[in-house]
Amino acid sequence: MSDRYAVITGATSGIGAAYAEAFAQRGYKLLLTGRREKELSVLADRLVKQYSVTVELQLGDLSDPKDLQTLVDTVIAMPALDALVNNAGYAVDGRLAEVDWAQQKALLDVHVTATTQLTHAALPNLLKAKGILINVASVASWIPTAQSALYGPTKAFVRSFTESVGLSYRRDGLKALALCPGFTITDFHSRMGIDPDKFYKTKGFTRAWTAKQVVDQSFKDLDKGRLVSIQGWNYKLLVFCMRHLPMTWVAAALSRSGSARFSK
Ligand SMILES: NC(=O)c1ccc[n+]([C@@H]2O[C@H](COP(=O)([O-])OP(=O)(O)OC[C@H]3O[C@@H](n4cnc5c(N)ncnc54)[C@H](OP(=O)(O)O)[C@@H]3O)[C@@H](O)[C@H]2O)c1
Repeated sequence: MSDRYAVITGATSGIGAAYAEAFAQRGYKLLLTGRREKELSVLADRLVKQYSVTVELQLGDLSDPKDLQTLVDTVIAMPALDALVNNAGYAVDGRLAEVDWAQQKALLDVHVTATTQLTHAALPNLLKAKGILINVASVASWIPTAQSALYGPTKAFVRSFTESVGLSYRRDGLKALALCPGFTITDFHSRMGIDPDKFYKTKGFTRAWTAKQVVDQSFKDLDKGRLVSIQGWNYKLLVFCMRHLPMTWVAAALSRSGSARFSK
């Protein structure tokens, strides 16, 4: 049994749960966070049985400053830390003024403040361990999400922040990765009232991938020393287009399609 520790936020379901399983498989001791106690406990019990690892839980809402501070204090007090995955996140559908400020601020707090503060708290131990930092962004970090006002912008922050931290600590041995998934089969869309059976495509340009596929790809990209991980030919192509086509074309296509709106 190894003595390596991993902290994963938003481990209750989807990509976070897939990371919990992947790190458990690699023998890491886990600290998992989320708000849904029952689901998190079921996952923890399964991982303990299946992989004989130690799993601790810390419940909390990362948009609540007290809960975030409690988790930050826990991370600072850990005797060792080898991997941090800032994964917790969600989308709020609506243009900027259509959604009340409390909801917009909560999204900023979960995506930007929690990711930044937890990374700051974890860095001393991650550097000692020459460890892993994975921050979950999105392909939306390259796309103006006109109908989901803060989703794309906050994910752009997460990607750029991770690239910056990754480059600045690369020579100290930190392995940092901005995970940039496209549509992934998780609880993400059903939380927004979208029927997953109708929404997720199994082929074509908008095909969705499983959380396990996304996570497996991210470990391959980490091994190659990459700073960014994108799962699937379709999302690699999308990002290539976003980065290389003239912005006027992209803006014209997006304003015609309305595709940035999930649920309306
Ligand atoms: N699915 C996609 O298509 C997709 C695409 C690109 C990027 N992403 C990103 O991937 C990450 C994981 O999402 P997912 O797709 O795996 O969806 P998911 O199954 O809904 O998982 C989201 C996780 O975040 C946690 N979470 C959400 N709000 C939280 C809060 N206020 N405080 C604490 N924890 C919170 C949830 O736990 P609790 O409910 O227990 O709190 C859950 O474990 C997110 O950052 C998302 O933006 C998803």
